[in-house]
Amino acid sequence: MRQTEIEQAKEKFGKILEEQLARVETLKTNADKVDYAGLRPIRIGICGGDGIGESISQAAKNVLVAALSQAVKQGQVVFQEIKGLTIENRAKENKAIPDEVLSQLKDCQVILKGPTTTPQAGDRRWPNIESANVAMRRALDLFANVRPVRIPQEGIDWCFFRENTEGEYAVGSKGFDVTEDLSVDFKITTEQGSQRIIRMAFEYAQKNQLQRVTVVTKSNVVKTTDGRFSRVAARIAKEYPGIVLDEWYIDIMTAKLLDPQRRADFQVLVLPNLYGDIITDEAAQIQGGVGTAGSANIGIRWAMFEAIHGSAPRMVQEGRAKFADPSSMIKAAAMLLRHIGYAERAAAVDMALDMCGQFERRVLITGRDNGATGEEFSQYVLEWMARPDLKERWEKAIAKLRKKI
Ligand code: IPM
Ligand code: MG
Repeated sequence: MRQTEIEQAKEKFGKILEEQLARVETLKTNADKVDYAGLRPIRIGICGGDGIGESISQAAKNVLVAALSQAVKQGQVVFQEIKGLTIENRAKENKAIPDEVLSQLKDCQVILKGPTTTPQAGDRRWPNIESANVAMRRALDLFANVRPVRIPQEGIDWCFFRENTEGEYAVGSKGFDVTEDLSVDFKITTEQGSQRIIRMAFEYAQKNQLQRVTVVTKSNVVKTTDGRFSRVAARIAKEYPGIVLDEWYIDIMTAKLLDPQRRADFQVLVLPNLYGDIITDEAAQIQGGVGTAGSANIGIRWAMFEAIHGSAPRMVQEGRAKFADPSSMIKAAAMLLRHIGYAERAAAVDMALDMCGQFERRVLITGRDNGATGEEFSQYVLEWMARPDLKERWEKAIAKLRKKI
């Protein structure tokens, strides 16, 4: 019964296994990390994306250009605009990332990327191409998605390490209908892929003198793939005697992030891809909305920085793109600065953003024409970055907040 369908499915499954085993072999060859200190000039790609992406990434670029003006003058850093990652162009080329765009991305070491529209199966307007994000993370092997969320007045300082190339995403567009009634997708977890993200989470904890790493899985039900992730975490934890590892299941973790009694206790969280995707939206919402969170996608040779939210096509349809909040992209820009060795400049961007978005709030973004444009908001951030009393004012504002706790 159904022998032909089963044989066809086996063949497809076989191909997926071959590809994944080949990928494991490349993961075993330990490539050297880029040494930004020894690399001049560092090439920063600015890739606008589509929807509100163009507008918010230009606002973030303003901030980067100001933060790096000296470095640009001294030839230490160069910017490169990368066009063509729009949904229109991707649809025209019928590719998640057109070849021309991919080769430009690869010419850069770090990329600031605006949101890109991801068509859904059955989308009336666009072909069902794969997400540009997912394709880029895979093409550049950006295995770590690092998403910090901070709420100082509540003592919350979370850093999520989301595995970024495996899980349900690894072969997300290669699932298939075996018969008219049966659909199958695949979830992939490798030893090497789990090790590298979990190790990065522990290294971060150690570097920042944090005593706790939380691994989030559903290993009681998804026994094989999540089971491996959880086992690897337990094994790596033994190498870090000063750090306690605890494991939470994704369902209760989702609840605990809403528990004001417990949530500030979490510090570093490490998760397989899809759980990380879901829970970081929740965490960002707790911080003040998905528009407030930035995200780093880190690999060995390349790193890409972006907002955690999408391209908001509704805002564009309603003519509101220029009023979109660029805070998430400006935060991503600060992460980029820190990543390439400009920690002080990054701190200035973060402090200026806090002053503008939380403390002084003279220029307000509402997402509509009764508020400022992203461009105006970025000018406001620049004003604060240039103020000699930035640090002093920020420290005062934070001290006041802490008193309220
Ligand atoms: C994210 C986004 C992406 C993801 C989408 C756009 C494919 O939600 O970066 O969290 O699921 O990873
Ligand atoms: Mg997401």
